[in-house]
Amino acid sequence: MKKKISPSLMCADFLNLGAELKEYERLGVDLLHIDIMDGVFVPNYTLGTDFIKKLHRATKIPLDIHLMIDRPDAKLDYFELRAGDYVSVHYESTPHIQRTLAALRQAGVKPILAINPGTPICVVEDLLPDIDAVLVMTVNPGYAGQKLIPQTIDKIARLRRLLDSAGYPEIEIECDGNISFDNAAKMSRAGASIFVAGTSSLYIDGTSLEENLKKLRAAVEVE
Ligand code: DX5
Ligand code: ZN
Repeated sequence: MKKKISPSLMCADFLNLGAELKEYERLGVDLLHIDIMDGVFVPNYTLGTDFIKKLHRATKIPLDIHLMIDRPDAKLDYFELRAGDYVSVHYESTPHIQRTLAALRQAGVKPILAINPGTPICVVEDLLPDIDAVLVMTVNPGYAGQKLIPQTIDKIARLRRLLDSAGYPEIEIECDGNISFDNAAKMSRAGASIFVAGTSSLYIDGTSLEENLKKLRAAVEVE
């Protein structure tokens, strides 16, 4: 399974975003991670619906839209979705998670089930036909710059085994939160294939995006 890097745009330099986008294209990044927070499901606000529209016009890189919002089932229409985008919804955010994932599939995007650190992996079992990936939060969602919750590494390994033994080896595992070079290597070995790159790797001050991306790619190619 190809290892993919998804730069977390909430960590980008907004005053220099046009140039950063060109750099992501030049460097061939796989996805762009867009955090949408509503101040209810998580205690923060970040990026929004108009930003997604602008990005769709500015780049062909698929978006990796992470919805950290309450009741996403009632709000999918707010978002401009483009074929090839990845969209994750949290298991904890709606009583109608299957309906929400099915609506995403119907909209032509790749549905991803996101789970918080405290949510057990068994919740994926009855949703396997509905998803292309599981997003394992490796910190509690809401903020950049937090520390890894250590047991999430083993959680990724257990999830990989569950997916493979249920006959779904093609379902990917995305990880999000404190993906440092060291943590990325451990997560990759545990079976993750999509890595959200934030302040812990790509956006380390004083080093270029190119240099950090190269280092992160080397870290996840271990195995
Ligand atoms: C939240 C975000 C953050 C963040 C990742 O969903 O995606 O987790 O930007 O970057 P770190 O944790 O490295 O600051
Ligand atoms: Zn995220």
